[in-house]
Amino acid sequence: MTTDPIRVIIDTDPGVDDSMAILLAFNSPELQIEGLTTIFGNTGTAVTTQNALRLVELAGRPDVPVAAGADKPLLRPFDGGGWMVHGRNGLGEVSFPAPRGTPIARRGAQFIVDTVLANPGEITLLAVGPLTNLAIALALEPRIAGLVNRVVIMGGSATVPGNVSAVAEANIHNDPEAAHLVFNAGWPLVMVGLDVTTRTIMTNAYLDDLRAIGNRYTDFIGQIVRHYHAFHQQQGLEGIYVHDSSAVMYLLDPSLFTTRDVYVDVEYLSPHLRGYTVADWHGKRQVQTRATVCVAVDSPRFLELYRQRIATIR
Ligand code: BDR
Ligand code: CA
Repeated sequence: MTTDPIRVIIDTDPGVDDSMAILLAFNSPELQIEGLTTIFGNTGTAVTTQNALRLVELAGRPDVPVAAGADKPLLRPFDGGGWMVHGRNGLGEVSFPAPRGTPIARRGAQFIVDTVLANPGEITLLAVGPLTNLAIALALEPRIAGLVNRVVIMGGSATVPGNVSAVAEANIHNDPEAAHLVFNAGWPLVMVGLDVTTRTIMTNAYLDDLRAIGNRYTDFIGQIVRHYHAFHQQQGLEGIYVHDSSAVMYLLDPSLFTTRDVYVDVEYLSPHLRGYTVADWHGKRQVQTRATVCVAVDSPRFLELYRQRIATIR
């Protein structure tokens, strides 16, 4: 039995692990990529947009539109992002030629609104960066909350500590007001957070095996991952966490994940708790909204599927 591919807009801040996720997505027949919208996070939006253009070209899909998104969080200045993790150019300080393509004239949030309105019930938003574009899209056209197929995000942490503060994960911390709006919009939302992304580790041996495949995807990943890998080693990890690819994997095979439905709110008022994703496990708030939160993952099966997908370019 064949099923129609999932039509997806990827909202992203590439970014080393974003790049690895985008290549996985392009190489997976379950997905039809309608466009990439870009956001600040790992570095500034001007740079992530150039990287998104490079990635559609590397994937052999320069026809896929890239729309530049917001340059800064809704209410705060952008603090310069995660360049220590991803390098100043977002691609591990490796220089690549300028992309041939250019972004479309429309901004990211407008592209999201137009695509969702034109395809009611069809479009999945896969957001693997700060949630500013999604929040702006909701403000431009609130009806999209009822018209998306679903929203899948890499962000937050419901059962484990944060990665940029004691409680907050980077994507949520970068624009907590936007995340608050996105978590409370009432659309079907899946949270793929640190609860699962830090349980899946590409070890040094796994990365060596990936490099040994020697196709254009693994060559690119092999180059850009060095800086990201070194950062993880400084933190005492012999390998890398697989953040953004985890959200792609959820779309490819949700059976890899154990989930729980729970109301999740995002704290944005307290400086110390900025970006804390608070899961109301005991239903104290009595709200109807529920997020589907990934709480466990079958990492061996996940890692094997990633390797298989990236080994054979479609
Ligand atoms: C998230 O933050 C970024 O550094 C990564 O690309 C990922 O989306 C992990 O906290
Ligand atoms: Ca990201």
